[in-house]
Amino acid sequence: MNIQQNVSLKSLNTFGIEAKAKEFVEIKSKEELVVLCTNFNLKDRNVLVLGGGSNMLLTQDVDGMVIKVSLKGISVIAENDDHLWVKAMAGEVWHDLVMWSVRNGYGGLENLSLIPGCVGASPMQNIGAYGVEIKHTFDSLEAIELDGGTIKTFSHAECKFGYRESVFKQEAKGKYIILSVTFKLSKQPNFNTTYGAIQQTLQKNGVVEPSVKAISDAVIEIRSSKLPNPKVLGNAGSFFKNPEIPNVQFASLKQQFPDIVGYPASEGYTKVAAGWMIEQCGWKGKVVGHVGSHKDQALVLVNYGGATGKEIWQLAMDIQQSVHEKFGVTITPEVNVI
Ligand code: FAD
Ligand code: EPU
Repeated sequence: MNIQQNVSLKSLNTFGIEAKAKEFVEIKSKEELVVLCTNFNLKDRNVLVLGGGSNMLLTQDVDGMVIKVSLKGISVIAENDDHLWVKAMAGEVWHDLVMWSVRNGYGGLENLSLIPGCVGASPMQNIGAYGVEIKHTFDSLEAIELDGGTIKTFSHAECKFGYRESVFKQEAKGKYIILSVTFKLSKQPNFNTTYGAIQQTLQKNGVVEPSVKAISDAVIEIRSSKLPNPKVLGNAGSFFKNPEIPNVQFASLKQQFPDIVGYPASEGYTKVAAGWMIEQCGWKGKVVGHVGSHKDQALVLVNYGGATGKEIWQLAMDIQQSVHEKFGVTITPEVNVI
C-alpha cells in the first residue's frame, strides 16, 4: 500500500479545483482496504473517500487521508429466465457498466447512460436521470466499516433511497466505504420513455421499437447536447437539488409565475425545477470572475479556469439567496461540499 503525502487533487475532481490531500492512498483490492480499516485507526482521522470526484466541491485542502477506491471487476453472480444479477466493483466507471449492460441487451440502466463517476458512489445519492434511479435496479451492496473493517451487506430497504438521498448521506455518513454494488437487470426490459426528450429523440432517430441500445443512444445524445463535458469545462452536474415544496405553495407561486416548472413528487408535494428559478433570477450564462452558471443549464455551476472552491461556493450561496428572495424557496446543494 503506497500512502503518499501532499498530493494534488486537481485532476481527481471534475470541477478541476486545486486542493491538496495531506495523505493519499489508492486502493485496488478488498484485502488492502481491510488492512487500512483495521490497522490505521481511520475513525480518528479526517477521511475523504473518492470515486471519480464528479459530485464534490473541494473548498479547502484535506487535512487527513483521501482514499481513492479503484477496485475493478464486473461479474454475473446469478440468473434466471427473466433476470440477471450483476455485481460491479466500486472503482468501475459507471458508464462502462451501463455500456456492458447495453452491449449484452440487459435492461434497467440504459436511462442512466453517461452519468460521470464510479459505481461505488452510485448508491450514495441514488443517481438518477430521465425517469430512472438506481433504486429501480439495485439489489444490494457490500461495504466495509471504516472503524474496524467489518464487511456488511446492505439490502435495498437498508439503503433508504430517496431523491438524491440514501442512508450513506444521513445516519451512515462517513462510516462506510462501498466495495461493490449488485444490480438486478432485466432480460425482457420494460422501457421507461416517459421523459419527453427521450420520446422526441427516438422519434427523430426513426426508432419504432425501443431497445436498450436505442434508449441509451438517445440519452447520450440528449446529455451531450445539454450538459457541459467536465473534461472541457469544470463542473459537477446539477449543483442544487430540485426542491420539493407543498402543493399549496406551488399553486400560489403558479399564480404569480404562470410559467414555473413543477412535477408531482411525494404525496402533497411538487418538485420544482431549480434550473428554471435560477434562470428567472438572471443567473443563466452569467460569469462572475472565474465561475458562473452554465449558459445552457442554469443548475450547472462551472469553473471557467483557475477558480477556487470558495469562489464556486460563494456563487452557490448568492444564487441560493436570490432564489429565496424571489420565490421564497430554499434550494440546497446536491454536490458534496468538502
Ligand atoms: P465522488 O464525487 O468521488 O463522490 C461523491 C460522494 O460519494 C462523496 O461524498 C464521496 O466521499 C462518496 N463516495 C465515493 N465513492 C465512495 C465509495 N466507494 N464508498 C463510500 N463513499 C463513496 N448525478 C445524477 O444522479 N444524475 C445525473 O444525471 C448526473 N449528471 C451529471 C452530469 C455531469 C456533467 C457531472 C459532472 C455530474 C453528474 N452527476 C449526476 C453527479 C455525479 O456524476 C454522480 O453523483 C456520481 O455518482 C458521482 O460519482 P463519483 O464516483 O464521481 O463520486
Ligand atoms: N430549465 C430552465 N432553465 C435552465 C435549466 C432547466 O428553465 O437553465 C427547465 C427546463 O426547461 C425543464 C426543467 O427546468 O423544463 C428541467 O430541466 P432538465 O430536464 O434539464 O432537468 P433538471 O431538473 O435541470 C435533472 C437532474 C439531472 C438529470 C436531469 C435529467 C437534479 C438536481 N438534476 O436536471 O441530474 O440528468 O434531470 O433527468 O435532479 C445531476 O444530478 O447532476 C444531474 C445532472
